[in-house]
Amino acid sequence: MKAVVVYYSRGGTTKKMAEIIHQELNDNGIESDIFSVSEITAKAFLDYDGIVIGSPTYYGTLAAPVKALLDESVSFHGKLDGKVGAAFSSAANIAGGNETTVLSILQAMLIHGIIVQGDFKGDHYGPVAVGSVDKRCEENCMRLAQRFVKLLNRVAGSK
Ligand SMILES: Cc1cc2nc3c(=O)[nH]c(=O)nc-3n(C[C@H](O)[C@H](O)[C@H](O)COP(=O)(O)O)c2cc1C
Repeated sequence: MKAVVVYYSRGGTTKKMAEIIHQELNDNGIESDIFSVSEITAKAFLDYDGIVIGSPTYYGTLAAPVKALLDESVSFHGKLDGKVGAAFSSAANIAGGNETTVLSILQAMLIHGIIVQGDFKGDHYGPVAVGSVDKRCEENCMRLAQRFVKLLNRVAGSK
């Protein structure tokens, strides 16, 4: 099984979250790659069982380069069905739209038929950073990766 972590980051906060998630996926036994959006095309999604996408919050939603990648993925509509997905975001403010950004990414994943899981205890929709990657954010990124691995194993086991 293979997973990919894709992010866009200008200031480094979203990249830091991506790196934590990537490391934790690998530490939990899932071979994962990490790319910024400029290093990957939507076609590469076909090669992975799990897809994790992160974006900074720009005006309450995802940054244009992440949206462009998701829009490009329409070429593979129907082909990502049954993969496992997750999303994360960083924002400057506590109610600055980071959750709506995560949900926008998850929305696109759901339309693809990608399986996503919420969290009853951690950041409910996906990890978010507020201002910087603090201890709370780091723990949520690690928790997401650990739960992602469990879900991937469960989905793969049922195939
Ligand atoms: C164009 C633009 C729009 C932004 N809009 C928001 C916003 O709506 N809410 C918010 O809390 N932060 C907003 N921010 C701040 C970024 O989301 C925040 O600095 C983020 O952590 C940047 O991530 P990065 O370091 O990975 O580039 C915006 C920043 C830019 C450049």
